[in-house]
Amino acid sequence: MKKLLILTLVAVLFLSACVKDASENDGNKGTLYYTIDVPTEAPTEAPADSTAVPTDSITETEPAPTETETVPPETTESTAPETEPVPVKVDGITLSIYEFWLNVGESHMPIVTMTPEDAPDKGEKWESSDKTVATVDKYGNITGVKGGDCTVTVTSTDNPDVYAEVKVHVKPEETEPESVTTVPAESEPAEKGEVTEPTYIGGILVVNKTYALPADYNPGVDPAAQDALYQMFADAAKEGISLWVKSGVRTYADQKWQYNVYVERDGKALADTYSARPGHSEHQSGLGFDLNSLSTSFGETAEGKWLAANCHKYGFIIRYPAGKENITGYMYEPWHVRYVGMDHAPVIHEKGLCLEEYLGITSQYND
Ligand code: DAL
Ligand code: ZN
Repeated sequence: MKKLLILTLVAVLFLSACVKDASENDGNKGTLYYTIDVPTEAPTEAPADSTAVPTDSITETEPAPTETETVPPETTESTAPETEPVPVKVDGITLSIYEFWLNVGESHMPIVTMTPEDAPDKGEKWESSDKTVATVDKYGNITGVKGGDCTVTVTSTDNPDVYAEVKVHVKPEETEPESVTTVPAESEPAEKGEVTEPTYIGGILVVNKTYALPADYNPGVDPAAQDALYQMFADAAKEGISLWVKSGVRTYADQKWQYNVYVERDGKALADTYSARPGHSEHQSGLGFDLNSLSTSFGETAEGKWLAANCHKYGFIIRYPAGKENITGYMYEPWHVRYVGMDHAPVIHEKGLCLEEYLGITSQYND
């Protein structure tokens, strides 16, 4: 410490001597002055006769001019508009399917994924190139109207430059259905004309082999069921599960035609195990939907398993479960969901019941 003080003292004495020396020697003044004292005193204390000399030296050694130059960018940074986050816009659309075939009256809804994921506005605008062939609603549910081809386009409402197209082929209707509408139920004498009102038990509309719907009962898709279905599809899609309506509403006439096709192919006894007679199908109620695939193996797919494990959260039940064939009257249909609402579906699911067990009713034809 002492040493340091002594050294400092010596240095100060030496410097004083130098400055004194410089003030007496104009030729050395600038050099000595700026080498030692520039950071603090040089610019202000520069002697009058050094006007030309120190300018360069100051410019080289002083950091100030550089700092001054950096000011404008800093000012810019602190201006509010530049720092506000730029809104994220939709830049891409992918679909779960880009081409598919439909029967007249059948519906299918491709699942839409918009990127980037954090885009705040993922609104969709749907349009059909030919509404006489297939219509599309605001959710993207595409329904076959008549035989032909068309293109359905979904466009981002956030960014109209971004869109995706799906080709839709609607199979022409068979000629038989016409005769179906005119045949007055020869093979189904019991139901037509006898049933005038749908049956509600415990607040649930019941349609099975025991309980029929009136032939003219044709309410279309139940709105609550449709909303729940789309919500379920959307949530499933978030988990990578793609669900769609393979077959939705069928009128009495549609069902009659379909049932008769199966009777012709497999005989009445077998057809009765998987196809409802006209008036007895939940598809006529607007509350029953066939999803994805009409194959028993659907129950083993990721989609089928997801549906069985989750549909009750949206008010649906798997209407014809495995192991309940003798009670429901139908073979296992992992694809057929029935909307019963949130008051019932979770209970039915948790108790592992079919609808007939839950309501304590039968499902049997009279004949
Ligand atoms: N496959 C069901 C039972 C129906 O035809 O409605
Ligand atoms: Zn079905």
